[in-house]
Amino acid sequence: MLRTEQIEAAKEKFGQLLAEQLQRVEEMKKQGDFIDYKSLDQIIIGVCGGDGIGPAITAQAQRVLEYLLKDDVKAGKVVFRNIEGLTIERRAAEKAAIPPAVLEEIKKCHVILKGPTTTPRKGDPWPNVESANVAMRKELDLFANVRPVRIPEQGIDWTFYRENTEGAYAVGSKGVNVTEDLGVDFTVVTTQGTERIIRAAFEFAKNNNKTRVTAVTKANIIKTTDGKFLDIFYEIAKEYPGITADDWYIDIMTAKLVDEKRRKDFQVVVLPNLYGDIITDEAAEFQGGVGTAGSANIGKRYAMFEAIHGSAPRMVQEGRDIYADPCSMIRAGAMLLAHIGYKEEADKLYRALDICTVTEKRLVITGRNTGATGEEFANYIMDTIAGL
Ligand code: IPM
Ligand code: MG
Repeated sequence: MLRTEQIEAAKEKFGQLLAEQLQRVEEMKKQGDFIDYKSLDQIIIGVCGGDGIGPAITAQAQRVLEYLLKDDVKAGKVVFRNIEGLTIERRAAEKAAIPPAVLEEIKKCHVILKGPTTTPRKGDPWPNVESANVAMRKELDLFANVRPVRIPEQGIDWTFYRENTEGAYAVGSKGVNVTEDLGVDFTVVTTQGTERIIRAAFEFAKNNNKTRVTAVTKANIIKTTDGKFLDIFYEIAKEYPGITADDWYIDIMTAKLVDEKRRKDFQVVVLPNLYGDIITDEAAEFQGGVGTAGSANIGKRYAMFEAIHGSAPRMVQEGRDIYADPCSMIRAGAMLLAHIGYKEEADKLYRALDICTVTEKRLVITGRNTGATGEEFANYIMDTIAGL
C-alpha cells in the first residue's frame, strides 16, 4: 500500500473512533441522577462467579452477605440471583467480552457481585476477547472505580476515585497500526466524563468529613487530556470551599506513597483510568496485597463490586481454589452493602474483617492446605459478626 493510502486508512479508523466517542458524550449528557435504592420495592443482587478462583471466593462472599441480609431476603426485599456464563470458556466460544445473554441477565439486576474474570493476553490459548471487567464498566457505564485502602495502625485511610470509562481504556483495544512500523493508541477525555468522577470524589469527601482531595495526572506532559482533567478538577474544587484541593504528578505520587512521613496525609485521590489502575495496586500492597482489597464500580443506574486481583488459574490447576482468600470479595461485599443502604451491616462486616484479619486472626489463610479454607474463613467472619 502507498503511504498516503495507509494514512487515509488510519484517518478513516480515527474518524470512526471520534464518532463513537462523540456519541458517548451525547449519552452522558442525557444521564439523570443516581438511582435511589430506598425507593425500590426489591433490590436484585446479581452474582457472577467468574473464572479461576472466582466461583470459590465469590460463593463465600455471597454466604456472608446472605447471612447479614437474611431478614430482608426472607421478606423478599433483597434477592440474590446467580448469573451463569461469565466464564472465559463461554466468552471465548462466543468471541464476546460478555456473552449477550449474560449481559441481558446482568442488566435486570441493580447491583452485581462479580468474581475475577480471565483477561486473555498474547500467547494464551484464548481468542483476544476484550477484558470482561472493562466491557462491564463500559456497558453499564460504571464510571467511578472506588478503591479504599485502610491501614489504621499506620494512620492510612485512602479512598481512590479512579475514572473508569475513559482515558487509555476508552478505546484501549482499538488502536491503529498505521503501517507495519507505526502503531498509535489513543487516550480520551471528555468534559462530562471528567466532571462526574471529580464531583463524585468531592461529594464523597464532603459526606465523609474528609478535608483534602488530591488529583493525580501527568499534565506537564500529556497536556491535552490530563490538562483538561486538571482544569476541571480545580473548577469543581471551587464548589467545595471547605476542602483542600491539590494535585500531584503520577511519578512523584507513586514515590510519595512509600514515604511514611507524607503518605498519611492523603485522603481522597481522584485520577484518570490508567494511573488509577497502577497506583491502586501499589496502595493495596501496603494493606497486605491485592488479595485484601475490594473495589466498587459505580454508575448512575448500576453498580458492580469486585476484587482487584485476577483469577489465579494456577491455584485451580493445583487444586487449591478452596484455600483461596475470600477477603477481597467479602470486602467488595461490604462496599455493596454500604452502597445499597445497609450501612450498619456494612460496618459490622468491616469490623469483623478487622478482627479476623488483623487483631484476633484465629484463622489464617495461606492459599494452601497449611491454612484455613475460604469456607472456614467465611464461617469465622460470620461467627465474629454474631458475637459483635
Ligand atoms: C483492575 C484490573 C483490570 C484493569 C484488568 C483485569 C482489566 O487490573 O481492575 O484494576 O486494568 O482495570
Ligand atoms: Mg488493576
